[in-house]
Amino acid sequence: MRSWRIAGNEEKYLMELLDGGFPGKSEPNFTGRLEARFAETFGTKFAVSFTNGTATLHAALTALGVGPGDEVIVPPLTMSSTSLAVLHAGATPVYADVDRESFVMTAETAKKKITPKTKAIMPVSLYGLPAPVPELKKLGLPVVEDSAQCFLGRIGSGIAGTLGDLGSFSFQNSKHMTCGEGGMVVTNDPDLAAAVRRFSSLGYGQISPEPGKSKIDKNDIAAPETIRHTHYGFNFRLSEICAAFALAQLENLENFVALRRKCGEAFFDAASSCAWLAPQKAPAGVENSFWAAAMCLDTDRVPWHEFHKAMLAEGSDGFYGAWRLAYREPAMAHLAPAEPCPNAEYLQPRMVQMKTHYGSQEELDRELAVFRSVIRKFGNR
Ligand SMILES: Cc1ncc(COP(=O)(O)O)c(C=O)c1O
Repeated sequence: MRSWRIAGNEEKYLMELLDGGFPGKSEPNFTGRLEARFAETFGTKFAVSFTNGTATLHAALTALGVGPGDEVIVPPLTMSSTSLAVLHAGATPVYADVDRESFVMTAETAKKKITPKTKAIMPVSLYGLPAPVPELKKLGLPVVEDSAQCFLGRIGSGIAGTLGDLGSFSFQNSKHMTCGEGGMVVTNDPDLAAAVRRFSSLGYGQISPEPGKSKIDKNDIAAPETIRHTHYGFNFRLSEICAAFALAQLENLENFVALRRKCGEAFFDAASSCAWLAPQKAPAGVENSFWAAAMCLDTDRVPWHEFHKAMLAEGSDGFYGAWRLAYREPAMAHLAPAEPCPNAEYLQPRMVQMKTHYGSQEELDRELAVFRSVIRKFGNR
């Protein structure tokens, strides 16, 4: 039986592409349709598709002119790509602590890390909760939003990912919408959009940030004296197959987000009677899109492994803890700040990321029953 995640036009669009003989030209132009629809859904002027949500961050930073000698402020509590993208751009990640209750970087912690070398701030909307971008923008530096885990999260009426200078999304298979691997950069700035597009498409000067214009027209480069590469770039273009699939997913995005919210809120509700579980707290006016239902085991009485073992013993289908802090990974240990980030250090070993993509009520109820039973086992207080 086909997964509930593939319930729309995925097959139809893939067949359209195959029936068209998989044309070399960008017809039927699923990348164009995907980009136009993404920009419309998120309310931005431009949306540029990519092979993944790490290349998107790399491109966004490079478009801002970030390079060797520059510093970019990032949180340490996140998936590694946030830091890796800064390193890919040749710059240095500088770590600002996260808030103990919302688990995301704040303007207060970022401000402390600004130096004359700081070229950008890259907050992460962790687990689906929008980072406080309007406050970060007031620090006067360009902001790239890593919104890989946050689709249609909101601050007031503003959509996460569209509140900074550039926003980055991932379509990797654990995300709200997917095509296996893929990503998108959004921006309202035509120069940044053009730079991002060139970067994704080998630095060709002839391409445009308009939807579906990631490839050059053969007629524009037929002449032998043609200059192709006005800039340096990578081939980070999303394939037509992935774009066809992603377009169908995007058409269902609101349903995917609603399902994640329903699951996330149910776990938070079940945790509300428990004194030692602290669910990720959304500040007033901030709407979580619940990539995961994240909570901190806010006690030394219930260690992570004991909780995990008890959940599995009762039939849980499993959950993740947080990634090691980026600067605690061997490959990035040389980046560890002289003073570690105390909140991130506290939260990381205590984090429980409950899944929010239970496609049926029965599966969700089963997992909730296990969760409630384990809370009772350890005692609510
Ligand atoms: C916060 C964050 N940033 C960046 C990425 C990188 O995205 P991708 O796997 O598409 O490269 C991910 C997810 O995988 C992520 O969770």
